[in-house]
Formats: sequence, C-alpha cells, structure tokens
Amino acid sequence: MIEVEKVITKNWGRPGSNTLDGYRSTGGYRALEKALAQAPAQVTEEVKRSNLRGRGGAGFPTGMKWGFVPKDNPKPVYLAVNADESEPGTFKDRYILENDPHLLLEGIAITCYALNCHQAYIYSRGEFKGPSATLDRAIAEAYAAGIFGKQLMGKPFALDVYQVRGAGAYICGEETALLESLEGKKGWPRLKPPFPAVVGLFGAPTVVNNVETLANVPAILDRGAAWYAGLGTEKSGGTRLICLSGSVNRPGVYECSMKTTLKELIFEPTLGGGMPPGRQVKAVIPGGSSAPVLSADELDVAMEFEALKAKNTMAGSGGVIVMDDATCLVRSLWRVARFYAEESCGQCTPCREGTPWQTRILRKIEEGRGEAGDLELLLHVASTIAPFPPIGLGNTICALGDAAALPVHSFVSKFKLEFQSHIAQRKCPFGDAPWGHFGGFA
Ligand SMILES: Cc1cc2nc3c(=O)[nH]c(=O)nc-3n(C[C@H](O)[C@H](O)[C@H](O)COP(=O)(O)O)c2cc1C
Repeated sequence: MIEVEKVITKNWGRPGSNTLDGYRSTGGYRALEKALAQAPAQVTEEVKRSNLRGRGGAGFPTGMKWGFVPKDNPKPVYLAVNADESEPGTFKDRYILENDPHLLLEGIAITCYALNCHQAYIYSRGEFKGPSATLDRAIAEAYAAGIFGKQLMGKPFALDVYQVRGAGAYICGEETALLESLEGKKGWPRLKPPFPAVVGLFGAPTVVNNVETLANVPAILDRGAAWYAGLGTEKSGGTRLICLSGSVNRPGVYECSMKTTLKELIFEPTLGGGMPPGRQVKAVIPGGSSAPVLSADELDVAMEFEALKAKNTMAGSGGVIVMDDATCLVRSLWRVARFYAEESCGQCTPCREGTPWQTRILRKIEEGRGEAGDLELLLHVASTIAPFPPIGLGNTICALGDAAALPVHSFVSKFKLEFQSHIAQRKCPFGDAPWGHFGGFA
C-alpha cells in the first residue's frame, strides 16, 4: 500500500481541531498570509499547477474552472461552496465541517482572494445539524478574529461568508439547482451553457466548488503546487478522502493516495481490514451510487479519476460501497433506483417518468413476478434516460438522469445471470436474507 502524507485529515482527532485556536496552533491561516502576499492571478496559477481536481463528482480541474471567470465583467463574482453531500455512500464533507472547519474557511478565503470575490455562500445539506452548528461557530470565530469582514486578515479586501442550510434535497447538490435554491427558488437545474463561472448566482459569475476541493487549497499555497501535485498521479494532484461502507470489517473515511487500489482499500489491515468472516467480494461501487458497478475481478484499479474512467466507471464523490456474495444485487439495484426516483426533481420527462419505471420493473423482478422481456425493457428505459452507456450523456438537463441509468446498465450487463435467475425461478434466490450491507428498504 502507498503511504501518503495527510492533507485533509492531519488534524482530525486532535483536541480543539475545530476551533480557531486549535487550527492556528498547527499553522492555520499561514497559507492565507502567503496567498495575500501574491497577486490573485498567481494564486490561481498555483492551483492550476497543483493538478487539484474537483472532489464533488465530476473531477473537473479546479484552477481551470477559476480561470473561466471573466475578468472584465462588471458584476460581482460569487463563490458557492457545495456542502450538500447527498450521494449515497458519500460521507466525507461532513467530517471536514465537524473536525476542521477552519481548513475549509481558509480555503474559501484564499479562493475568494484569487477570484476577486467578496461574498461566499456555503450551501449545507439540511440534515447536517451538528456539522452546520460547528461551521457557524467557526465562521463567527473568523469574523471575531478579523479574518473575515471588512478586511481579510488586515488586508483591504472585504469578505463575507454565509452558511445557507438546504432542505435535504439531493438535487440541490447539482450546481445549478444549488444556485436556484440559494436564490430562494425551487431547486431545478438550469440548462448549460452558460456555465455558472460565467452566469451563475443572481446572473453573476460564480465558482461552485465542493468542500473537500476547497479544503485542499491551503496546503497548495502553504507547501507549493509541485509538492501537492507530487502526492498524486500525473493528472490528479493530492490525496483523496474515501468513504468506505458495506461489507468490510472497518468501514470509515480514509485519506488515501490516489494510487491506492480498490483491492488495497478493502483488504489492507489499516484500511477496510478485509471482509466479514466467510464472505467474498461480489461487487463494488467505486464512486457513490451513481458510479457504474465493478465486479470482483476488476478491483486492481487505482482509485483515481483516469484509472476508473478507463474501467468505464468513475471516481465520483469517493463513496466506495462493497457488496458481498450474500447480497442480492437485484435488491441492491432496486434500492439505488428508488433513491433516484424519489430525488428526481421532475423537470425532464425521461428522468421523471423513467426513474420510477425502472423502480417498478426491478421490484417486479425481485418479488418473483419478473417475466421474459423485463430485462430488455429495463435497459430500454435506462437508455431512454441516458442513451450512451457507460458514459451516460443523458437526455436530461442535469446528470441525475445519468446517475439513475448508469447503475442499471452496469448491474444488468455485469450480473445478468443473477437477474435472469430471479426471473427463471420466479423468486429471489437469496430468499428472505436481510438487506445485508446495502441498507434497508422501507
Ligand atoms: C444530481 C447531482 C447531485 C450532486 N450533488 C453534489 C453534492 O452533494 N456535493 C458536491 O460537491 N457536488 C455534487 N454534485 C456535483 C456538482 O454539480 C458540481 O459538479 C460540484 O459541486 C463542483 O465542485 P468541484 O469541481 O469542486 O467538484 C452533484 C451533481 C449532480 C448531477
């Protein structure tokens, strides 16, 4: 296993790690001072050179995104921080908010300076009661210490940072739905282009970045882009927070090298610690429930954007879900499908109609009522939502449609026999086995 220096989790578990004093005692806000000694454009260049890529799902190069903000636009520039974290299997951003909120706030301050942005909005998932309260305390501390407010660390640069709580809708994690919600409207995604960096919040240029993405920024400014890039692979700098759940002995959040393979993640004693006694891996979702599933013979792959893309899946939001040989994959896919059907915002017909249709077919197969033609119909419905598996590129305004259809394509193509045996036996071969490690069904 490749050991890596910790960037995000280095202070977790240290007493006072979520307070300003605790943060400062480990060199906190030193990177902001270094950034303020440079020109804003230099800061963006440093982030570009670091190969930092977005940790919210798509893995877009962060410095490049910042570079899309027009320089000559008379409107203000906004930063929207995506703390909505709702993708099933993903639970890392909340730990950053709880354990080291000033790391995020310092990242926000540096980013705002680089973008000439004077207002940042942190959009938090509605259910994040504890993490949101910790974040509010940290924001208040930063104001009281003169880090935010009319001056930025004593420099004549006004910066206001607000936390806005969502109402618990997965769709509001999609960046344009998030902007609509911030504007007080229903969280319906917008057509792109124009992209938010050009026309975003209140019609003004807006950078949307994930919590983990921005929490990496202080280390880049403090230790330099070359050091940060060197931690990762050729095209992806830094480390990665991996959320490991399902059938493993040690589920949790691990900060890993991008070169760590899925097999190492599951079996290394200091990481997943292997499977429960007697169990074998059957399938692994590598990047949140929308990422196409991998079979047990595909685990020698680095948990990195390019490597997983080459396997026709994605690193996504870093949510790794392990399913063992006692897990019914029809039931698991039904569970995933039901999530997307419930969270579809209903704006686009293929997603609104297709996601519940997928759910109904899967339920029918799982309950022993499946018949010839059901699998073909299921794949047809999935293709109507996202016609180009394994990439998706759906018939819908946002990627929720892809997220709902790609698991269907991948589960059915890789585990067809399991689906067929449900239909042939007119029952679930796993019987009344509990929902296992994939979670219950209400
Ligand atoms: C349906 C949907 C839900 C999403 N939910 C989240 C989320 O909860 N958190 C997040 O950071 N990105 C989420 N994204 C990705 C965002 O749209 C966006 O790409 C991301 O916030 C950009 O930040 P990054 O470049 O730092 O990754 C979601 C995308 C889709 C299509």
